[in-house]
Parts: sequence; structure tokens; C-alpha cells
Amino acid sequence: MTPIEIKNKTNMTQRDGFTSTFGVLVATLGSAVGLGNIWKFPYLTGTNGGAGFLLVYLLATLLLGLPVMIGETMLGRATRANAVSIFEKLRPAQPFWKIIGYMGMLAAVLILGFYTEVAGWVFAYIFKALSGSLLHGDASAAQAQFKATIANPLSALAWQWAVLLLTGGIIMLGVSKGIEAVAKRLMPVLFLLLVVLCIRSLTLSGAGAGLKFLFAPDFSKVSAGVILTAVGLAFFKLSIGMGTMLTYGSYFRDDQNIPVTAGRVMLADLSISLLAGIAIFPAVFTFHFAPTDGPALVFLTIPAVFASMPGGQIFMVLFFVLTALASIGAILSLLEVPVAALTERLHWSRRKATALTVLLIAILGAPAALSNGAAAHWTIFGLTFFDFYDFVSSNLLLPVGGLLLCVFVGWIIGRDWVQSQLSNRGLLANQAVVTGVFMLLRYVSPVLIVIVLLRGLKVF
Ligand code: TRP
Repeated sequence: MTPIEIKNKTNMTQRDGFTSTFGVLVATLGSAVGLGNIWKFPYLTGTNGGAGFLLVYLLATLLLGLPVMIGETMLGRATRANAVSIFEKLRPAQPFWKIIGYMGMLAAVLILGFYTEVAGWVFAYIFKALSGSLLHGDASAAQAQFKATIANPLSALAWQWAVLLLTGGIIMLGVSKGIEAVAKRLMPVLFLLLVVLCIRSLTLSGAGAGLKFLFAPDFSKVSAGVILTAVGLAFFKLSIGMGTMLTYGSYFRDDQNIPVTAGRVMLADLSISLLAGIAIFPAVFTFHFAPTDGPALVFLTIPAVFASMPGGQIFMVLFFVLTALASIGAILSLLEVPVAALTERLHWSRRKATALTVLLIAILGAPAALSNGAAAHWTIFGLTFFDFYDFVSSNLLLPVGGLLLCVFVGWIIGRDWVQSQLSNRGLLANQAVVTGVFMLLRYVSPVLIVIVLLRGLKVF
């Protein structure tokens, strides 16, 4: 088919989409906000030395994250296709670019391999919060409790499968009904609850030490490896580099202002991460945990803060319920990438595509789920499966995906096209934004990503 024929064909096919501008914003936020804010951001900030890491992460979000996010949504909306077909439609003669979509499908499966496990821990903690067994505020008891939760092989697998079944079910219902409905309701409540938590944390005795750790940079801790991790987190946080925003962009409305939407999503996402950090680090220093406690951090500190608060148990249940819901919004957006590509490219039903994707994740995810107990000694390149999936996806696939995307938009697609897309075919005339985004995508972001990748992986 010629590009024109392909275009006509899509126009005739009914594609599900988001139903309002506000719906787009909320659904995109629903993808961005998740365990990345509540679990990964605080734990990586803790293990990578605090404020210096935070600063690099902020810079990476602005200089790499925002332009790539704008680029992805723009490509998706212009082509109304899945993460693989987008590139086929725009450059039918250059099949290479489809690799961005294929790498994205792989990244989705790897991320979900460990992400669904952590979501499972959150679900398990809802029940612990309900039972009141987290209300003691004792550091070593909290550590033991967390270890027991994640080490038990049967419950680890069962929770992961429960999360997969639940999210797979929602995905089968379709884009607007499933994703929009879940995402719309939870964000403001989560935000408010985090504000309450922060107020409590800031009145704890360790507040000063916590804030210093989070905001007073010690640059001696910022190594090339730390920078790569911060860049990986910036991509992970904004759900970019693997096709989520390509796919979500394809459900955007034609009149949506893409740069404004992306900017709002970025700011809201950053605020939620920062609130989580401000809630957690004072508690680390007050209740004698360590910033380097790793993936356990949020599961140790947050219950300790709630235990020191009137009505703490109710808030604690609410916190884990909201975190679970936020993680579901993010999981849906990850699943959507392979599901949309498989249904549209192989003409599978949504049901079949979802079932097979979920099955694959369950198989690949099992050794990650067990890597905190039964399979702790199974390693690849010295990492457990859990850490390996995380490293390969966040520190390799997402930055490389982002790099290819920058090159595609900046060098292959070119400025005129970007101009017409970003200004909604001339309706929104903002030259400065178009020029800024295009220059970042063409020069700044790709160069920075290459340097960070090569140095972070110790190539030079
Ligand atoms: N951004 C989500 C979070 O912070 C996770 C996520 C959803 C994601 N979709 C993604 C990460 C795509 C990378 C790529 O929890």
C-alpha cells in the first residue's frame, strides 16, 4: 500500500480514543504517576546519595524527558497508530525505525516483570495495614515484616498473578472505558494524602536531616553510573522511550495542545515524586532506617510515619489503596503498548493479545518475583532477575529508545513536519516552543543521551 492508502484505511477504521481534553491529561498522568514516584524515586534517591541525584534527575527530566515526551505524543497523534506501525506509516521505505516499537514491546514486558511484583507488595500491604500489624513504629520489626512478605515464594507469585489478572481484565475492556475511568478518580486524593503525610513528616525530629539529604547536594556522590540511573529514572517516570506515549498520543484529540499537556504532566508528576521524597526522608532519619534500604524504603518508612499520627491506620490503608490504584494506571499503559501493536499488526483480538502478553509476563516475571527469596541466587551478570530486568529496561532500553526517537524526529522527520504538528496545523502559533523543542530533539537531547550512556556503561 502507498502511504495515502494506509492513511485512508486508518481513517475508516474506528479507533478507540480519549473523550475529552481533560481525559487526555488525566489518562497520561495516570500512566506517568505510579510506583515510579512512590517507590522507585525515593529508593533510588536514597541509594544514589540524595540531593545530587535529585538534581541530575531534574535536569534530565527537563532536557531529555520533556522533549522526548512531546516528540512521542506528536508522532502518535499524527499517525494514529501503534508503537511499531507509526514508523512504517511515516517512513515506509526505512524499516529500521520500527525497531523503536519492537524495543518498546520488549521493554514493556521486562518492566512489567518486576513492576507487577512491586504492585503485588503494595496489595499485600493493604491487608497488613487493615489488620493493624504495621502500627508498631519499630525499625527492626518493620524490616523483618517486609522481608517475610517478599521472600515467601507462594505469596510473591500469587500477588503478581493477581495484579496481572486484574490489569489484563481492565485492558480487555478497551482504552477509554478502562484506562480513563480508573485514572480520573484517584490522582487528587493521592496528592492530598501525600500533603498530609508531608506535614506530619516535617514535624518529626529527623526533618532537618531528611531535608538536607534530599536538597543539599554532595557532588562527590554523582558518578557516571549515578547519572545514567537518574536519566533512566527520568524516562521511566514520564513513561517514555518505549512507546507508551507513542501509543497514548495516538488516542489524543486533534485539538490537544501537546507541549502544554506534556508540561502539565511533567510538573504534576514531579510534584508527586517530591512529595513522596519529603514524606519519606525525614522518617528515615527519625526512625533509624537507612537511606540505602533500597526497594524496601517506602514499605518501611511510610507505616512508621502513619504509626506516629492520630487516625494513622485509616490513612495508611488509604495510602496503600491509592498507591495500588496508581500502579494499575501505569501498568495499563505499559500493557497497552504490546496489546495495541499485536491487535493492529497481527489482527489478533484484544482478548487474545492481552491474554498472551499477560502470560508471557507471568512466565518472565516469575524469576523476578522469586528473586527476593527462593531464586535469590539466580543471577545474570551478577544481578538478580528483578534487578536485571530493571537495569536493562531503565538504563538501556529506555535511553536508547529515547535516543532513536530524537534522531528520528530531529533528523529524519524534520522541522516543517514538527512545526505543523506542534502548532496544530498553524492554529496555535508559538514559534519559540516549536524551535525550542526541535533544537532539543535534534541536538541537545541525543548528544546528552549518548554521552550519559557511554560513560554510564563505562565504554569510555
Ligand atoms: N511511569 C510509570 C511510573 O512511574 C511507569 C510506566 C508506565 C512506565 N508506563 C511506562 C515506565 C513506560 C517506562 C515506560 O510508575
